[in-house]
Amino acid sequence: MIALKGAKPVQSNLEAFWMPFTANRQFKAKPRLLVAAQDMHYTTADGRQILDGTAGLWCANAGHCRPQIVEAIHKQAANLDFAPTFQMGHPGPFELAERLLPMMPGNFDHVFFANSGSEAVETALKIAIAYHHVRGEGTRQRLIGRERGYHGVGFGGISVGGIANNRKYFGSLLAGVDHLPHTHNLEHNAFTRGQPQWGAHLADELERLVALHDASTIAAVIVEPVAGSTGVLIPPVGYLERLREICDKYGILLIFDEVITGFGRLGASFATEYFGVMPDLVTVAKGLTNAAVPMGAVFCREGIYDAFMNAPEGAIELSHGYTYSGHPLACAAAIATLNIYKEEDLFARARDLSSYWEDGVHSLKGLPHVIDLRNLGLVAGIELEAFPGKPGFRGAECLQRCYDNGLLIRTTGDIIALSPPLIVQKEQIDQMFEILAGVLRTLN
Ligand SMILES: Cc1ncc(COP(=O)(O)O)c(C=O)c1O
Repeated sequence: MIALKGAKPVQSNLEAFWMPFTANRQFKAKPRLLVAAQDMHYTTADGRQILDGTAGLWCANAGHCRPQIVEAIHKQAANLDFAPTFQMGHPGPFELAERLLPMMPGNFDHVFFANSGSEAVETALKIAIAYHHVRGEGTRQRLIGRERGYHGVGFGGISVGGIANNRKYFGSLLAGVDHLPHTHNLEHNAFTRGQPQWGAHLADELERLVALHDASTIAAVIVEPVAGSTGVLIPPVGYLERLREICDKYGILLIFDEVITGFGRLGASFATEYFGVMPDLVTVAKGLTNAAVPMGAVFCREGIYDAFMNAPEGAIELSHGYTYSGHPLACAAAIATLNIYKEEDLFARARDLSSYWEDGVHSLKGLPHVIDLRNLGLVAGIELEAFPGKPGFRGAECLQRCYDNGLLIRTTGDIIALSPPLIVQKEQIDQMFEILAGVLRTLN
């Protein structure tokens, strides 16, 4: 029996739900159940307030249960719950795509909708390969990802991804994929504020992969501009620029996976704007709808959509899409979300707060177990030394103790990631680092 605040107690056996990316047995023995949310806080099943240090899962950028978004979803559900977008249409995705394009710097002219970051990634990879095919370069089928990259959980995403646990149980994955080295290096870059100076040369590894495979076999390179899920790896100064140069040199498409960095996380609309590097395809999700309804999307730069439009009249130009591509509720949530971002100038707010945030992050220097602190925009990575012989133990302990003390953090192994909603107040930033510091002082 779980007592839900604000709702009737429900009889609920936790066993039936196979929880994603969760230590199921551990969780079910000691559940952490959230039953309500508002703005910067969650409410737990036992009625406690938890400060949200992670915007849910890097996604509720405008804070939780914003009335404008809630109302837009209500209205849309009552008026048009669903309409297909296969050979049919409804106004939502057309309006949303038009709203999105001007937010992305550079020359992007089309948006394809999916329902998650994973689907956005699968879509982008397929568009990249098909793009070369329709242009008569069908030999370009190879995809290049990066070690420690996270691009969701589809077969394409885990193939280009570089996190061993997400790959090793799932067979031989996509053929023809190779990986760049990751850019993490504590010896050179520990405790860097913002972008590290060391590491741009690691982008030159792409030259080596081109020499090995030949450019005529390579369709695209995909990277997270700031790697999030692996534990916040900030790109070295000049690294993304160098990747762009090499891709241009060899006619390789560059895909930025901005599922985390999109919608203000770095204090700019997208990482594309923040770094001033223009990719060919950009994947987004999460903050697109403030997480209120699942949605993902792919931005395509000029020329990509057009390359497909030479198909015979009446033929479907790209045989790809999801029943819920451009779902009415997701579109309504996204449009309401974009309105809030604009009205409250939340991306600029994040930018203005980022130096205060940075000071907060680096105030943890010298505390027990802390071997690195890294930050950009409103993102932080706090790397802890692993408990001897028990990797991940310290991270898991830290998550539990922060939760017990009223703070939601995210951990990947022994790395803590923080990414609060962009509405966070300075006092709440102070509170986050106070709680975290207290926990770190007592951690085994
Ligand atoms: C960079 C990146 N790409 C893709 C995904 C997958 O998104 P989803 O979980 O919505 O499928 C994530 C999720 O965290 C992500 O961080």
